[in-house]
Amino acid sequence: MSKLIIEGARRLKGEINIQGAKNSILPILAASLVTRAECVIHNCPIISDVKNTLKILEHLGCVVKFQENTVIVNSENITKNSIPNVLMREMRSSIIFLGALISSVGSAEISLPGGCELGPRPIDMHIEGLRQLGLRIDESHGILECGNEDGLEGCNISLSFPSVGATENLIIASVKARGTTVINNIAKEPEIMDLIAFLNSSGAKIESQGEGTLVIEGVKALHGTEYTIIPDRIAAVTYMSAAAVTVGDLLLKNVVKEHIGAVIPVFEEAGCTIESDTENSLRIIAPTRPYFNRIVRTMPYPGFPTDAQAPVMAMSCLADGTSVFVENIFTNRYKHVGELLRFGADIKVEGRVAIVEGVKRLFGAEVTAMDLRGAAALVVAGLGAEGTTKISGLSHIDRGYENLENNLESVGASIKRV
Ligand code: EPU
Repeated sequence: MSKLIIEGARRLKGEINIQGAKNSILPILAASLVTRAECVIHNCPIISDVKNTLKILEHLGCVVKFQENTVIVNSENITKNSIPNVLMREMRSSIIFLGALISSVGSAEISLPGGCELGPRPIDMHIEGLRQLGLRIDESHGILECGNEDGLEGCNISLSFPSVGATENLIIASVKARGTTVINNIAKEPEIMDLIAFLNSSGAKIESQGEGTLVIEGVKALHGTEYTIIPDRIAAVTYMSAAAVTVGDLLLKNVVKEHIGAVIPVFEEAGCTIESDTENSLRIIAPTRPYFNRIVRTMPYPGFPTDAQAPVMAMSCLADGTSVFVENIFTNRYKHVGELLRFGADIKVEGRVAIVEGVKRLFGAEVTAMDLRGAAALVVAGLGAEGTTKISGLSHIDRGYENLENNLESVGASIKRV
């Protein structure tokens, strides 16, 4: 079993190029099925979730080529409408293939998706919206068998919560539905806007209409396209947290500042200087010791992202002050807390609330990553801790971070995979 070995408390200084967004590329790869043509997608991160998604596309009959960070998917000859359980279980985003297969070939047979265990992750909103579009869905023993011989019919859908995945599934399912689909209370994450831009560049007609509403005019067919994925805002926040615990000075290239608009003030209040120019880069200069004395509430975008909660919490462990985290999106997203305690952190959890009393020093520890962002938090803690940290459970990191240890090593960290 491989481990990351970190010798902590070394100052990080230098430049890191931020990867393309995991949560953009996954739904966009699924949506490429609907084009039934060749899509060239740039800035694709090389991570295991992408590799697994490409396996699903190949299984369905697509021809896939991966050259550096560009992926080319040709979906002209789809041969199957079903995805085996073993591929579905690898990640949560596989559920987006439901909408994509329906839009592409009119039917789908898939099992329930896997993904990080962050509490119950039902798909009721996906199912309800798809049924409103006219999809027949039969569920038995965790297998969904779906279709509609006459095609889907545009309608008015209101989501009870702005679910990222449900919004994506319904957008993809309705781009070729007859007539007009209106989706209210959509998720507004930058990755959703990226999916919409990708689909529109392939011939879809999706328009925002006011706050949280999308109007989709169904088209007969999409066409191939060439598209570049947005940068990964959570990877950017992870490196910012790493800088903050190491008196660091990092220039992060390929960052869209607006995408982390709710996070930047948190770092500024902690005493970090944030500089940015017009070329999509951001420099973070950390104080000798951060100060963290605030409440962080995770919210749907444009609020503070749940995915940033764990790495920012790791940073707050080593700051002066008391901070309170309120996790409003997932019910079980504090699994990193037990591991952070092994570094000597002072954290108490009560339901959705975690209270962090900053400590003067963290000490290297042997810890296990239990989910993707929790893994990132352990890396941040290890970088800030004195002595040696050993992190296992690296498959979680590999799901979402491209070149994490190389990037950190290039700016002065002592981090090795053994
Ligand atoms: N929910 C329901 N019913 C549904 C759908 C969602 O109750 O039908 C609940 C979920 O259980 C959860 C909340 O709504 O409590 C939010 O779920 P959402 O659907 O918005 O999230 P998701 O699509 O499952 C995506 C990202 C997550 C990110 C969340 C929130 C991808 C592949 N995953 O998940 O990313 O945390 O949105 O922003 O895009 C990560 O990158 O580490 C990650 C977990």
